[in-house]
Amino acid sequence: MSNHFTLLSSDNNARRGILHLPQGDVQTPVFMPVGTVGAMKALHHDRLEELNYQLILANTYHLYLRPGLDLLKNMGGLPAFSTWSKNFLTDSGGFQFFSLSKFAKFTEEGVKFSSHIDGSKHFFTPEMAVDAQNIIGSHIKMVLDVCTPPDISEKKAYQAHLLTLDWAKRCKQQWELTGSNGLLFGIIQGNFYKDLRRLSADSLAELNLPGYAIGGLSVGEEKHVFKEFVHFTTPLLPHNKPRYVMGIGTPDYILQAVEAGVDMFDCVYPTRVARNGAAMTFDGLLSLKNERFMKDSSPIDPECDCSACRRYSKSYLRHLIKAKEINALTLLTDHNLTFMKRFMIQVRQSIEDKTFLTYKQQFLHQYYNSSL
Ligand code: GUN
Ligand code: ZN
Repeated sequence: MSNHFTLLSSDNNARRGILHLPQGDVQTPVFMPVGTVGAMKALHHDRLEELNYQLILANTYHLYLRPGLDLLKNMGGLPAFSTWSKNFLTDSGGFQFFSLSKFAKFTEEGVKFSSHIDGSKHFFTPEMAVDAQNIIGSHIKMVLDVCTPPDISEKKAYQAHLLTLDWAKRCKQQWELTGSNGLLFGIIQGNFYKDLRRLSADSLAELNLPGYAIGGLSVGEEKHVFKEFVHFTTPLLPHNKPRYVMGIGTPDYILQAVEAGVDMFDCVYPTRVARNGAAMTFDGLLSLKNERFMKDSSPIDPECDCSACRRYSKSYLRHLIKAKEINALTLLTDHNLTFMKRFMIQVRQSIEDKTFLTYKQQFLHQYYNSSL
C-alpha cells in the first residue's frame, strides 16, 4: 500500500504524479468522468478507452439500489459485469444521501434513507459501504462520510465531522477485516470552519489511509469561498499520498485545485452540459442551441479529433440538438471528454515545464474572457 503513488515533479504546490492501480497507471492530475451506474451516459466504453481514460467513477448508492448487490455479486462485480477493463473509483453514498435522499436520517449507527427510485426504505452503515464496494469490486473505495450544506452552525459541523471520523475508523476496520481490497480513501469534512477542517484532516491522517479526499466543497458556497477552502485544506493532507477534491469539474475549479496541490477530481459537469447542447472549447463554452450557429459550417474546434469535430459542422450539430436526435448526446459527450483529455494533458505538461501559473492565467483568460 505504500508505493501506489509516485510524485514525479512539482511546480509551486501543483503536483505531477502517477497513481498505480490494479488495472493500470493513472497520470495525475487526473480528471475522472462520472459513470454513475457503471456506464458513461451516452458514450460507449470503446470510445472512453480510445480517449485513454484510465479511471472512472461509479456510485455505490445507485448500484446498491439498482441493479443491486446480489446481481452484481452474481455477475462477478462491476468490472466484469460492465466489461470496463480500466479502473473504477466508487463514491460511498455519503454525498448521495445528502443530495438525493431528502429525508435521510443520520444516526451514530448509520443512515436511514428512502430510495429516489421507488421510495423504499433502507438502512446503510459504514461497514455496509465497504462491503458494497467490495462486491462492486472498485479499485478505489471511499469511506462513508457526512456531507453538510454551507450554512450550518459550527456545533452541527463539529458533530458531522465527529461522525465522519468515527465512520472512517469503522470503514477502515471493515476494509482490513475483508482483505484490504483496493485503496480506501478518507474524506475530510468540517464544513466552512477552518479549525474543523484542520481537525478533520489531522485526525483522518492518523488512520494512515492510502489516500485522502476533500469533501463538502462545491455544495453551494460562493466561488471565492471554494477557492479559500481548497487552498487552506489541501496542504493539511499528507504530502506523499493522492489528494482528491470530490465533485468539481469546471476548468476554473480544476485549475484552482491543481494550484493548491490536488491530484484528482471528478464531476458530471462535462458530460451533463454536453447532453444539454454545450460544447467546451479553449475559447469557452459554446451553447450550440444558439441561433448564431444556425449557418455556421465550421466544426466546434478544427483541432479536436472527436467524432463530432472530425465530421460535422456546428450548424448540423445544432440541428441534431434542436431535433432531439439521440446522436447529438453522444457526439457532444465525445467532444467534451475529448476536450477534458486535451486540457488535462496541457495541465500536466505545464507542471512538468514549471509553467503552471502562466498556463493557468492564459487558459482562464482565453476560456472566460474570449469574445465567444
Ligand atoms: N461528492 C462531492 N462531495 C462529496 C462529499 O463531501 N462526500 C462524498 N462522499 N462524495 C462527494
Ligand atoms: Zn470535438
